[in-house]
Amino acid sequence: MSKLVVISGAAGMTGSKTSEYLLNHGYVVIGYDNFFCGSRSLIENLNKNKNFIFFEYDINNNSQMDDLFEFIKENYSDYEKYFINCAAVVHTKHFYHPDNTFKTNVLGMKNLLDRSILNGFTKYINCSTSEVYSMHSYQEGGVKEEDAILLATAENSLRTSYAAGKLLTEFFMKDAVEQGKIKGCSIRFANVYSPDEVYSDHIIPHIIDSVRDNNKVVLLENAKETRRTFLNNYDSCAAVVKLLENDNCLDGTIYNVGTEEEIYITDLVEKIVSIIGKEKTDVEIEFKGRRSADPPRRLLSIAKIKNLAGWSPKISLDEGLKECINKRIHNNEALV
Ligand SMILES: NC(=O)c1ccc[n+]([C@@H]2O[C@H](COP(=O)([O-])OP(=O)(O)OC[C@H]3O[C@@H](n4cnc5c(N)ncnc54)[C@H](O)[C@@H]3O)[C@@H](O)[C@H]2O)c1
Repeated sequence: MSKLVVISGAAGMTGSKTSEYLLNHGYVVIGYDNFFCGSRSLIENLNKNKNFIFFEYDINNNSQMDDLFEFIKENYSDYEKYFINCAAVVHTKHFYHPDNTFKTNVLGMKNLLDRSILNGFTKYINCSTSEVYSMHSYQEGGVKEEDAILLATAENSLRTSYAAGKLLTEFFMKDAVEQGKIKGCSIRFANVYSPDEVYSDHIIPHIIDSVRDNNKVVLLENAKETRRTFLNNYDSCAAVVKLLENDNCLDGTIYNVGTEEEIYITDLVEKIVSIIGKEKTDVEIEFKGRRSADPPRRLLSIAKIKNLAGWSPKISLDEGLKECINKRIHNNEALV
Protein backbone atom coordinates (compact mmCIF):
# COMPACT_ATOMS: atom_id res chain seq x y z
CA MET A 1 0.00 0.00 0.00
CA SER A 2 1.27 3.53 -0.80
CA LYS A 3 2.21 5.60 2.21
CA LEU A 4 1.36 9.18 3.08
CA VAL A 5 3.08 11.09 5.88
CA VAL A 6 1.60 14.34 7.11
CA ILE A 7 4.14 16.59 8.82
CA SER A 8 3.24 19.68 10.83
CA GLY A 9 5.99 22.28 11.17
CA ALA A 10 7.38 21.16 7.80
CA ALA A 11 9.32 24.40 7.31
CA GLY A 12 11.33 23.87 10.49
CA MET A 13 14.55 21.98 11.11
CA THR A 14 13.08 18.56 11.83
CA GLY A 15 10.02 18.79 9.59
CA SER A 16 11.93 19.82 6.46
CA LYS A 17 14.79 17.30 6.73
CA THR A 18 12.41 14.46 7.62
CA SER A 19 10.23 15.39 4.61
CA GLU A 20 13.30 15.29 2.36
CA TYR A 21 14.29 11.86 3.64
CA LEU A 22 10.79 10.40 3.27
CA LEU A 23 10.37 11.80 -0.25
CA ASN A 24 13.66 10.15 -1.24
CA HIS A 25 12.27 6.85 0.06
CA GLY A 26 9.03 6.77 -1.91
CA TYR A 27 6.56 8.36 0.52
CA VAL A 28 4.08 11.06 -0.38
CA VAL A 29 4.45 13.92 2.09
CA ILE A 30 1.94 16.61 2.97
CA GLY A 31 3.60 19.34 4.99
CA TYR A 32 2.16 22.42 6.62
CA ASP A 33 3.54 25.34 8.59
CA ASN A 34 2.43 28.86 9.52
CA PHE A 35 6.01 30.21 9.16
CA PHE A 36 6.09 31.25 12.78
CA CYS A 37 9.80 30.64 12.48
CA GLY A 38 10.15 28.23 9.55
CA SER A 39 12.04 28.78 6.32
CA ARG A 40 10.33 29.53 3.01
CA SER A 41 13.51 28.52 1.14
CA LEU A 42 13.37 25.02 2.60
CA ILE A 43 9.76 24.68 1.40
CA GLU A 44 10.71 25.98 -2.07
CA ASN A 45 13.32 23.20 -2.30
CA LEU A 46 10.84 20.54 -1.15
CA ASN A 47 8.22 21.85 -3.59
CA LYS A 48 10.47 20.72 -6.47
CA ASN A 49 9.41 17.16 -5.64
CA LYS A 50 5.99 16.27 -7.12
CA ASN A 51 5.23 14.04 -4.13
CA PHE A 52 5.43 16.97 -1.71
CA ILE A 53 2.31 19.03 -1.08
CA PHE A 54 2.48 22.10 1.13
CA PHE A 55 -0.15 24.21 2.89
CA GLU A 56 0.48 27.45 4.74
CA TYR A 57 -1.70 26.43 7.66
CA ASP A 58 -1.72 27.01 11.41
CA ILE A 59 -2.11 23.95 13.63
CA ASN A 60 -4.37 26.04 15.90
CA ASN A 61 -6.73 27.04 13.09
CA ASN A 62 -9.51 24.46 13.18
CA SER A 63 -11.09 25.38 9.87
CA GLN A 64 -7.69 24.99 8.14
CA MET A 65 -7.23 21.62 9.87
CA ASP A 66 -10.75 20.61 8.68
CA ASP A 67 -9.72 21.53 5.10
CA LEU A 68 -6.50 19.57 5.44
CA PHE A 69 -8.21 16.37 6.54
CA GLU A 70 -10.94 16.81 3.92
CA PHE A 71 -8.20 17.10 1.25
CA ILE A 72 -6.56 13.92 2.56
CA LYS A 73 -9.89 12.05 2.59
CA GLU A 74 -10.64 13.11 -1.00
CA ASN A 75 -7.22 12.28 -2.43
CA TYR A 76 -5.52 9.66 -0.25
CA SER A 77 -8.25 7.45 1.18
CA ASP A 78 -6.48 4.29 -0.05
CA TYR A 79 -3.08 5.24 1.43
CA GLU A 80 -1.62 4.10 4.72
CA LYS A 81 -1.36 7.34 6.69
CA TYR A 82 1.10 8.51 9.35
CA PHE A 83 1.43 11.81 11.22
CA ILE A 84 4.65 13.43 12.50
CA ASN A 85 4.03 16.40 14.78
CA CYS A 86 6.95 18.82 14.49
CA ALA A 87 5.03 22.11 14.78
CA ALA A 88 5.99 23.78 18.03
CA VAL A 89 7.05 27.01 19.62
CA VAL A 90 10.61 26.01 20.38
CA HIS A 91 13.07 28.82 21.02
CA THR A 92 14.26 29.48 24.60
CA LYS A 93 12.99 33.05 24.64
CA HIS A 94 9.41 31.65 24.56
CA PHE A 95 9.96 29.10 27.33
CA TYR A 96 9.45 31.76 30.00
CA HIS A 97 5.95 32.59 28.75
CA PRO A 98 3.56 29.65 29.19
CA ASP A 99 0.94 31.38 27.03
CA ASN A 100 3.36 31.37 24.07
CA THR A 101 3.92 27.63 24.11
CA PHE A 102 0.80 25.98 25.56
CA LYS A 103 -1.62 26.41 22.67
CA THR A 104 0.60 25.08 19.89
CA ASN A 105 2.72 22.60 21.83
CA VAL A 106 0.01 21.01 23.98
CA LEU A 107 -3.44 21.72 22.52
CA GLY A 108 -2.10 21.53 18.94
CA MET A 109 -0.46 18.16 19.62
CA LYS A 110 -3.62 16.74 21.23
CA ASN A 111 -5.91 18.11 18.54
CA LEU A 112 -3.82 16.53 15.77
CA LEU A 113 -3.48 13.25 17.65
CA ASP A 114 -7.30 13.09 17.97
CA ARG A 115 -7.78 14.05 14.32
CA SER A 116 -5.22 11.46 13.18
CA ILE A 117 -7.06 8.72 15.09
CA LEU A 118 -10.45 9.88 13.79
CA ASN A 119 -9.19 9.90 10.19
CA GLY A 120 -7.70 6.41 10.19
CA PHE A 121 -4.02 7.31 10.55
CA THR A 122 -2.11 4.31 11.89
CA LYS A 123 1.04 5.95 13.33
CA TYR A 124 1.81 9.19 15.18
CA ILE A 125 5.26 10.48 16.15
CA ASN A 126 5.28 13.01 18.97
CA CYS A 127 8.31 15.33 19.22
CA SER A 128 9.05 15.96 22.87
CA THR A 129 12.25 17.31 24.42
CA SER A 130 15.14 16.52 26.74
CA GLU A 131 14.06 19.68 28.64
CA VAL A 132 11.57 17.44 30.49
CA TYR A 133 14.51 16.07 32.48
CA SER A 134 14.74 19.57 33.95
CA MET A 135 17.07 19.48 36.98
CA HIS A 136 17.78 15.73 36.68
CA SER A 137 19.49 16.03 33.33
CA TYR A 138 22.75 14.30 34.12
CA GLN A 139 23.96 11.03 35.55
CA GLU A 140 26.90 8.80 34.71
CA GLY A 141 26.05 7.02 31.44
CA GLY A 142 23.22 9.46 30.71
CA VAL A 143 19.64 9.84 32.00
CA LYS A 144 17.25 7.13 30.88
CA GLU A 145 13.70 7.39 29.65
CA GLU A 146 12.28 5.58 32.67
CA ASP A 147 14.18 7.67 35.25
CA ALA A 148 12.07 9.79 37.60
CA ILE A 149 12.49 13.47 36.87
CA LEU A 150 13.13 16.44 39.12
CA LEU A 151 11.16 19.34 37.68
CA ALA A 152 11.97 22.91 38.62
CA THR A 153 8.67 24.63 39.41
CA ALA A 154 7.12 28.05 38.81
CA GLU A 155 8.53 29.08 42.19
CA ASN A 156 11.96 28.69 40.66
CA SER A 157 11.54 29.53 36.96
CA LEU A 158 8.76 29.87 34.39
CA ARG A 159 11.14 28.22 31.92
CA THR A 160 9.90 24.77 32.98
CA SER A 161 6.46 25.53 31.51
CA TYR A 162 7.73 24.47 28.06
CA ALA A 163 9.00 21.17 29.48
CA ALA A 164 5.83 20.59 31.50
CA GLY A 165 3.72 21.05 28.36
CA LYS A 166 5.84 18.62 26.37
CA LEU A 167 5.71 16.14 29.25
CA LEU A 168 1.91 16.20 29.10
CA THR A 169 2.00 15.32 25.38
CA GLU A 170 3.95 12.17 26.26
CA PHE A 171 1.02 11.08 28.45
CA PHE A 172 -1.47 11.70 25.62
CA MET A 173 0.71 9.60 23.30
CA LYS A 174 1.08 6.70 25.74
CA ASP A 175 -2.63 6.68 26.58
CA ALA A 176 -3.71 6.63 22.92
CA VAL A 177 -1.43 3.67 22.18
CA GLU A 178 -2.43 1.76 25.32
CA GLN A 179 -6.08 2.17 24.33
CA GLY A 180 -5.22 0.64 20.94
CA LYS A 181 -6.24 3.77 19.02
CA ILE A 182 -2.96 4.25 17.12
CA LYS A 183 0.72 3.23 17.16
CA GLY A 184 3.26 5.83 18.15
CA CYS A 185 5.96 7.10 20.45
CA SER A 186 7.46 10.28 21.88
CA ILE A 187 10.99 11.45 21.14
CA ARG A 188 13.03 13.47 23.63
CA PHE A 189 15.49 15.33 21.43
CA ALA A 190 18.59 16.88 22.93
CA ASN A 191 19.96 20.14 21.48
CA VAL A 192 19.50 19.79 17.74
CA TYR A 193 21.36 22.05 15.31
CA SER A 194 21.33 22.40 11.55
CA PRO A 195 23.20 24.28 8.82
CA ASP A 196 19.78 25.52 7.67
CA GLU A 197 18.82 27.39 10.85
CA VAL A 198 17.36 30.73 9.88
CA TYR A 199 17.68 32.52 13.21
CA SER A 200 20.61 32.71 15.59
CA ASP A 201 18.55 31.96 18.71
CA HIS A 202 20.17 28.59 19.34
CA ILE A 203 23.69 28.55 20.74
CA ILE A 204 25.61 27.25 17.68
CA PRO A 205 24.32 29.82 15.15
CA HIS A 206 24.55 32.48 17.89
CA ILE A 207 28.28 31.78 18.38
CA ILE A 208 29.03 31.55 14.64
CA ASP A 209 27.20 34.79 13.80
CA SER A 210 28.72 36.62 16.78
CA VAL A 211 32.27 35.62 15.79
CA ARG A 212 31.55 36.47 12.16
CA ASP A 213 30.03 39.88 12.81
CA ASN A 214 31.63 41.19 16.03
CA ASN A 215 34.58 39.03 17.09
CA LYS A 216 32.73 38.95 20.38
CA VAL A 217 30.41 36.33 21.89
CA VAL A 218 28.00 37.15 24.70
CA LEU A 219 27.21 34.12 26.89
CA LEU A 220 25.28 33.67 30.11
CA GLU A 221 27.27 33.46 33.36
CA ASN A 222 26.04 29.82 33.56
CA ALA A 223 28.09 29.05 30.44
CA LYS A 224 31.30 29.10 32.49
CA GLU A 225 30.37 25.66 33.81
CA THR A 226 27.71 24.41 31.35
CA ARG A 227 28.30 21.31 29.22
CA ARG A 228 25.96 20.15 26.47
CA THR A 229 25.73 17.61 23.68
CA PHE A 230 24.71 18.71 20.17
CA LEU A 231 22.87 16.53 17.71
CA ASN A 232 23.06 17.17 13.99
CA ASN A 233 19.67 17.55 12.31
CA TYR A 234 20.57 14.83 9.80
CA ASP A 235 20.91 12.36 12.69
CA SER A 236 17.79 13.51 14.55
CA CYS A 237 15.66 13.06 11.43
CA ALA A 238 17.21 9.65 10.74
CA ALA A 239 16.02 8.70 14.25
CA VAL A 240 12.47 9.89 13.51
CA VAL A 241 12.35 7.75 10.37
CA LYS A 242 13.89 4.69 12.12
CA LEU A 243 11.17 4.86 14.77
CA LEU A 244 8.40 5.51 12.23
CA GLU A 245 9.43 2.43 10.25
CA ASN A 246 9.89 0.13 13.24
CA ASP A 247 6.49 -0.97 14.53
CA ASN A 248 8.00 -2.68 17.59
CA CYS A 249 9.16 0.74 18.81
CA LEU A 250 5.74 2.36 18.42
CA ASP A 251 4.52 1.19 21.81
CA GLY A 252 3.59 4.61 23.20
CA THR A 253 6.85 4.97 25.11
CA ILE A 254 9.64 7.53 24.99
CA TYR A 255 12.94 7.49 23.13
CA ASN A 256 15.93 9.69 23.96
CA VAL A 257 17.62 10.98 20.82
CA GLY A 258 20.97 12.67 21.36
CA THR A 259 24.72 12.17 21.26
CA GLU A 260 27.23 11.17 23.91
CA GLU A 261 29.73 13.85 22.76
CA GLU A 262 29.63 16.42 25.59
CA ILE A 263 31.40 19.76 25.35
CA TYR A 264 31.77 22.83 27.59
CA ILE A 265 30.11 25.87 25.99
CA THR A 266 33.37 27.81 26.34
CA ASP A 267 35.20 25.02 24.47
CA LEU A 268 32.49 25.14 21.81
CA VAL A 269 33.31 28.81 21.26
CA GLU A 270 37.01 27.98 20.92
CA LYS A 271 36.27 25.16 18.50
CA ILE A 272 34.11 27.40 16.32
CA VAL A 273 36.70 30.21 16.36
CA SER A 274 39.38 27.74 15.29
CA ILE A 275 37.27 26.22 12.46
CA ILE A 276 36.45 29.70 11.21
CA GLY A 277 40.22 30.28 11.06
CA LYS A 278 40.54 33.06 13.62
CA GLU A 279 42.91 33.21 16.59
CA LYS A 280 41.52 32.59 20.06
CA THR A 281 42.88 36.00 21.05
CA ASP A 282 40.89 37.70 18.25
CA VAL A 283 37.57 36.87 19.94
CA GLU A 284 36.28 38.25 23.22
CA ILE A 285 33.79 36.32 25.40
CA GLU A 286 31.53 38.41 27.61
CA PHE A 287 29.52 36.69 30.35
CA LYS A 288 26.27 38.46 31.07
CA GLY A 289 23.13 37.46 33.00
CA ARG A 290 22.24 34.19 34.68
CA ARG A 291 19.50 31.68 33.90
CA SER A 292 17.85 29.68 36.65
CA ALA A 293 16.54 26.12 36.23
CA ASP A 294 19.22 25.47 33.61
CA PRO A 295 21.17 22.34 34.59
CA PRO A 296 24.97 22.47 34.17
CA ARG A 297 25.03 19.14 32.31
CA ARG A 298 22.50 17.36 30.13
CA LEU A 299 23.43 13.92 28.92
CA LEU A 300 20.92 11.38 27.63
CA SER A 301 21.35 7.63 27.55
CA ILE A 302 20.64 6.56 23.97
CA ALA A 303 20.87 2.85 24.73
CA LYS A 304 17.12 2.28 24.19
CA ILE A 305 16.92 3.56 20.62
CA LYS A 306 20.29 1.97 19.78
CA ASN A 307 19.13 -1.43 20.98
CA LEU A 308 15.53 -1.37 19.76
CA ALA A 309 15.75 0.62 16.51
CA GLY A 310 19.42 0.26 15.57
CA TRP A 311 19.91 4.04 15.44
CA SER A 312 23.03 5.90 16.50
CA PRO A 313 24.33 9.34 15.52
CA LYS A 314 26.69 9.46 12.54
CA ILE A 315 27.81 13.10 12.28
CA SER A 316 30.57 14.22 14.67
CA LEU A 317 30.39 17.71 16.16
CA ASP A 318 33.48 18.76 14.17
CA GLU A 319 31.91 17.68 10.88
CA GLY A 320 28.58 19.29 11.72
CA LEU A 321 30.16 22.58 12.79
CA LYS A 322 32.20 22.74 9.59
CA GLU A 323 29.00 22.38 7.57
CA CYS A 324 27.23 25.12 9.59
CA ILE A 325 30.19 27.49 9.34
CA ASN A 326 30.53 26.85 5.65
CA LYS A 327 26.91 27.78 5.12
CA ARG A 328 26.72 30.75 7.51
CA ILE A 329 30.09 32.29 6.69
CA HIS A 330 31.56 31.15 3.43
CA ASN A 331 28.34 30.96 1.38
CA ASN A 332 26.76 33.52 3.66
CA GLU A 333 23.36 32.41 2.40
CA ALA A 334 20.50 34.01 4.29
CA LEU A 335 17.58 31.59 4.46
CA VAL A 336 14.29 33.44 4.77
N1 LIG B 1 15.75 21.91 18.00
C1 LIG B 1 15.93 21.35 19.17
O1 LIG B 1 17.02 21.44 19.76
C2 LIG B 1 14.84 20.55 19.82
C3 LIG B 1 15.13 20.00 21.04
C4 LIG B 1 14.14 19.31 21.68
C5 LIG B 1 12.91 19.13 21.10
N2 LIG B 1 12.63 19.67 19.91
C6 LIG B 1 11.27 19.46 19.37
O2 LIG B 1 11.34 18.96 18.04
C7 LIG B 1 10.25 19.46 17.27
C8 LIG B 1 10.77 20.10 16.02
O3 LIG B 1 11.59 21.18 16.38
P1 LIG B 1 12.52 21.93 15.36
O4 LIG B 1 13.89 21.91 15.91
O5 LIG B 1 12.27 21.43 13.98
O6 LIG B 1 11.97 23.39 15.56
P2 LIG B 1 11.73 24.52 14.48
O7 LIG B 1 11.42 25.76 15.26
O8 LIG B 1 12.83 24.55 13.51
O9 LIG B 1 10.41 24.01 13.73
C9 LIG B 1 9.12 24.12 14.26
C10 LIG B 1 8.23 24.55 13.11
O10 LIG B 1 6.89 24.64 13.61
C11 LIG B 1 6.29 25.75 12.98
N3 LIG B 1 5.15 26.21 13.78
C12 LIG B 1 5.17 26.86 14.97
N4 LIG B 1 3.92 27.15 15.36
C13 LIG B 1 3.10 26.64 14.41
C14 LIG B 1 1.69 26.62 14.25
N5 LIG B 1 0.88 27.20 15.15
N6 LIG B 1 1.17 26.04 13.15
C15 LIG B 1 1.97 25.48 12.22
N7 LIG B 1 3.32 25.46 12.31
C16 LIG B 1 3.87 26.04 13.39
C17 LIG B 1 7.39 26.79 12.90
O11 LIG B 1 7.13 27.81 11.95
C18 LIG B 1 8.59 25.92 12.54
O12 LIG B 1 8.77 25.83 11.15
C19 LIG B 1 9.47 20.42 18.20
O13 LIG B 1 8.39 19.74 18.76
C20 LIG B 1 10.48 20.75 19.28
O14 LIG B 1 9.84 21.07 20.50
C21 LIG B 1 13.58 20.38 19.23
